[in-house]
Amino acid sequence: MKLMTAPFIDLVRGELKLVEEDIRARIGKHHPNFGVAIEQLLSSGGKRVRPTLTLLTGRMLGAEVESTVKLAAAIEMLHTATLVHDDLIDGSMLRRGLPTLNAQWTPGATVLTGDYMFARAADLAAQTGSLFIMRRFAETLMTIVNGEITQLFNDQGEDLRQDYFDRIYAKTASLFEVATQGAAVLGNAGEALIEDMKQFGYNIGLAFQIVDDVLDIVGQEERVGKPIGSDLQQGLITLPTLHYLENHPDNQDLKEVLNNGHIDEAGLARLVEAIRSSDAIERSLTEARQFVDSAIAHLAQLPASPERNALQDLAQFMTQRSV
Ligand code: IPE
Ligand code: IPE
Ligand code: MG
Ligand code: MG
Repeated sequence: MKLMTAPFIDLVRGELKLVEEDIRARIGKHHPNFGVAIEQLLSSGGKRVRPTLTLLTGRMLGAEVESTVKLAAAIEMLHTATLVHDDLIDGSMLRRGLPTLNAQWTPGATVLTGDYMFARAADLAAQTGSLFIMRRFAETLMTIVNGEITQLFNDQGEDLRQDYFDRIYAKTASLFEVATQGAAVLGNAGEALIEDMKQFGYNIGLAFQIVDDVLDIVGQEERVGKPIGSDLQQGLITLPTLHYLENHPDNQDLKEVLNNGHIDEAGLARLVEAIRSSDAIERSLTEARQFVDSAIAHLAQLPASPERNALQDLAQFMTQRSV
């Protein structure tokens, strides 16, 4: 099942359309290539998981539709902008099953298009009228960028597991938590509920990223839309690899990645296969499920509603997806 066709999206399908309209909104006199880039990224898919979270939370808490849609559009736009720059940084040629901007354009044009998208995201965030959301937006972008540069300089701490969780907070959970927290703020929820919704987003963000990292090892390229094994190829140690390392500290290919930060093609294929057929995958998924359970526990104080059920189903879906 694809996220976009899942029944728990039905409640906000109409609003998701409005989000896409906001993202597509005309770029006026600005260079047409910005519009081309945004259109390509939008039409090539994307799970829209972050705006879905915002819309469901906003609806559940009675937030005004217009500002919730702006927040959801701002979040998706920010996410898309980080992908544009990330693919350039990583030298990735494939995203959402299509050639990346950096595969088609110069680095300069790609950087500028990402910049433009960041500015659009900020503009959309401002249209919520909430200073709190604007500040959280800026903070989150700082967190994401800080995570990217830490990874770029390969600043490995003593504790690989701590490094991993810091990294997935920065790159994924930080934006998920503002997606739900921001919507709760727009719904004028009390402080405790706002914190619960923030924690909900945080926990499913971690689960989502762990599953992403599992899919980088067990997924199929045609479905995931990006090359398999790309984390290890970049010298990135993710949770499945950490679990594998625990039981196979002497694996030569893995030592190669840990010591040199890269590995040749044959070694990569061997290592991916070794991790794939070990219990490291199941152990990682068990951890992801624990985050899903924590997320759902944070919904306990909310009155029963179709939106709350949908959020619960969405949380469960995090560990079942194959795309
Ligand atoms: C990809 O996010 C980048 C990460 C933070 C892992 P998604 O998997 O949500 O990407 P799309 O939007 O569905 O393409
Ligand atoms: C995801 O980073 C992009 C950001 C949120 C900055 P990755 O490089 O780890 O993810 P993929 O594999 O390109 O989607
Ligand atoms: Mg990348
Ligand atoms: Mg990256």
